[in-house]
Amino acid sequence: MKLQNPTLFKSDCYINGTWQGSDQRSPVFNPSTGEEIAQCPVLGQSECKQAIAAAEQALIDWRARSAHERSAILRKWFQLIIANQDDLAAIMTCEQGKPLAEAKGEIAYGASFVEWFAEEAKRIYGDMIPGKTKQQRLMVIKQGIGVVAAITPWNFPHAMITRKCAPALAAGCTVVIKPAPDTPLSALALCHLAEEAGFPPGVINCITGDAVAIGNELCASNGVRKLSFTGSTAVGKLLLKQCADTVKKVSLELGGNAPFIVFEDADIDKAVAGAMASKFRNTGQTCVCTNRFYVHESVHDVFIEKFKTAIQALKVADGFEEGAQQGPLITQAAYDKVSEHVSDACDKGAQLICGGNAHANGGTFYEPTLITGIKTNMRISNEETFGPVAAISTFKTDEEAITLANNTNSGLASYLFTENLNRAFIVSEALEYGMVGVNDGLISNEVAPFGGIKESGLGREGSHYGIDDFVELKYIMIGNVEK
Ligand code: SIN
Repeated sequence: MKLQNPTLFKSDCYINGTWQGSDQRSPVFNPSTGEEIAQCPVLGQSECKQAIAAAEQALIDWRARSAHERSAILRKWFQLIIANQDDLAAIMTCEQGKPLAEAKGEIAYGASFVEWFAEEAKRIYGDMIPGKTKQQRLMVIKQGIGVVAAITPWNFPHAMITRKCAPALAAGCTVVIKPAPDTPLSALALCHLAEEAGFPPGVINCITGDAVAIGNELCASNGVRKLSFTGSTAVGKLLLKQCADTVKKVSLELGGNAPFIVFEDADIDKAVAGAMASKFRNTGQTCVCTNRFYVHESVHDVFIEKFKTAIQALKVADGFEEGAQQGPLITQAAYDKVSEHVSDACDKGAQLICGGNAHANGGTFYEPTLITGIKTNMRISNEETFGPVAAISTFKTDEEAITLANNTNSGLASYLFTENLNRAFIVSEALEYGMVGVNDGLISNEVAPFGGIKESGLGREGSHYGIDDFVELKYIMIGNVEK
């Protein structure tokens, strides 16, 4: 990997404005080639305590600054991210495997949260409330909650950090980031740019190492007032329990099991384009990726035919190869899950339309796959596959489609395709999900609230609502106001 700005390649942790290594290090691999690309420090509880202490100390000055000052530093960070977009994307492709074009897209996506919250920093408005008596003046102000712990995933190694940290920093909070062990390099490169942007020491800290020890400390510490986590539902539930003892505010962006409904009046070409975007983005490794397709029986065959053609045209390759559209799965465990879901479905009577095997590239590359005849007793109907497998079932009535779509404990993203406006509203309102895409398979952006209901999580990220998770309301009464 050749970078125009080699200083972005950091493999030490960033604590209190200094780069900290350790004798013990853990390797970071390129999932496409299996090659070791770096070794990051294995830090634990005591270094995590140091990072929290630094964030607590830095909080005093950072929260006291004006919103305009915080905004200016965030804006500078945004500009530096955009100026280094190509290098940041290359680092990401190397450690995560996603195609370079997609990685560049993620850098722009991540930067958009920094730009958005640089603006929102200036708009953290309060309220005046009419007093109960004429001598009273009541107001509500919003104040940054304090030190924030951000535990972030490997599937979006850049954007999930900025989506959490930018609103936190805008609100006057300081942060301790624990990136996923598979993808720490994107996080550390972001810290390098944050340092250059002028964030004072301790405002942003990033620690790698023993995930359990660090996670336990972040949850148990009274110094941390807010935990924001993106990752699996199982780990999210554990963190929520661990945060109970210190009554922390918690935001969780957890697993989805997204349904994608194609009604009989859908524009099939639009539905196929939406299906490609929502299913195969990031090799199917996003929480908002479609997991279950429900296609009206009258359009099943035409949808399958067109979808198959689009799937077979996908270029599966190393992320640095020209025109690559799908990379490897992140680990062997991820590959095994995908492969097991396909075998389980086929063993129980599903029909394989295309794919369904290891890809010729080897390693953790898996063929983009289409299967139909999916039934509710198959694992793929009930568990998030997190891979490039499109699983199709049919339905007859709107009520049946809605019931099937809602038959899950998850509630993150959902999609529907119809040309009937009335149906679009009625079905959107009936879907038990935090997000609904109508006639579109790509719904994530910085201006809209991202988040789920049921076991898919708590809180919202992005949009003007995104600040709410990082502030506390304070009510102030001024009494005995007299002429
Ligand atoms: C995720 O998969 O966690 C995030 C996906 C997105 O931001 O679109």
